Amino acid sequence: MTNKLKYFIGNWKMFGDFNSFKIISKINQYAKEHKNAKKSKIVLCVPNILIGFFRKRLKRKSISIGAQNCYHEEGYGPFTGAISAVMLKKMGAEYIILGHSENREEGETAKLIKKKIVSALNQKFNIILCVGEKFIDKKKGKTFSIIKKQINGSIEKNFNTNKIILAYEPVWSIGSKKIPKTKELMNVIRFIKNDFKKNFKTKNFPKVLYGGSVNKNNIKLLSTISEIDGFLIGGASQSSKKFIDIIKNYYK
Ligand code: PGA
Repeated sequence: MTNKLKYFIGNWKMFGDFNSFKIISKINQYAKEHKNAKKSKIVLCVPNILIGFFRKRLKRKSISIGAQNCYHEEGYGPFTGAISAVMLKKMGAEYIILGHSENREEGETAKLIKKKIVSALNQKFNIILCVGEKFIDKKKGKTFSIIKKQINGSIEKNFNTNKIILAYEPVWSIGSKKIPKTKELMNVIRFIKNDFKKNFKTKNFPKVLYGGSVNKNNIKLLSTISEIDGFLIGGASQSSKKFIDIIKNYYK
């Protein structure tokens, strides 16, 4: 365990309505009152329709609100149903998840993700870029090469990499109750950090989160991997209790 700032980022996915404010409110209250929370950055990435509402209702904000994706074109334009980064920023989102495997699965390419990163960077978003291999790739020993391709295909050398946090989410671990073996996970996180620093010639190592079936039971084990800078939490972030228990157990 280190004293470095740890991220606990919730990804609500397709979940929530106005009543879900109570979840956000409880997490905010926890963050306000507990010293562990001061060592943590807590972010809830919620559906677009709720961002502005939550932002307005949250008094004395100890947590940040984020979005889960944006359209690849910038500003305003003739794109029916689309939401751009600037619109999300104006609603009050500070963080944005990009490149989630659920979106890649629907055809989102590295090139498209790159455009999204550019537009999010132009709005000074903190970006959480998801990368990770499918189980079949893992079996073929292609984990590192897939991740490298995902990162290098979406980030240019001149991007402001300080605004990009990486989230390693093996596709096979998302919502499956399976997490990688400790040693394997440590190796992937180390690989991402070293390769990124070398490739983008950054002064510091990038922040790398782990995501995939994180819960209050496996968080203790995950906390032993000091290279992990935090967690991207899907299902368990839809309950204030489950989400807070993860933070509590992490620091236990
Ligand atoms: P999960 O989802 O925690 O439900 O596995 C993680 C994610 O998809 O970001």
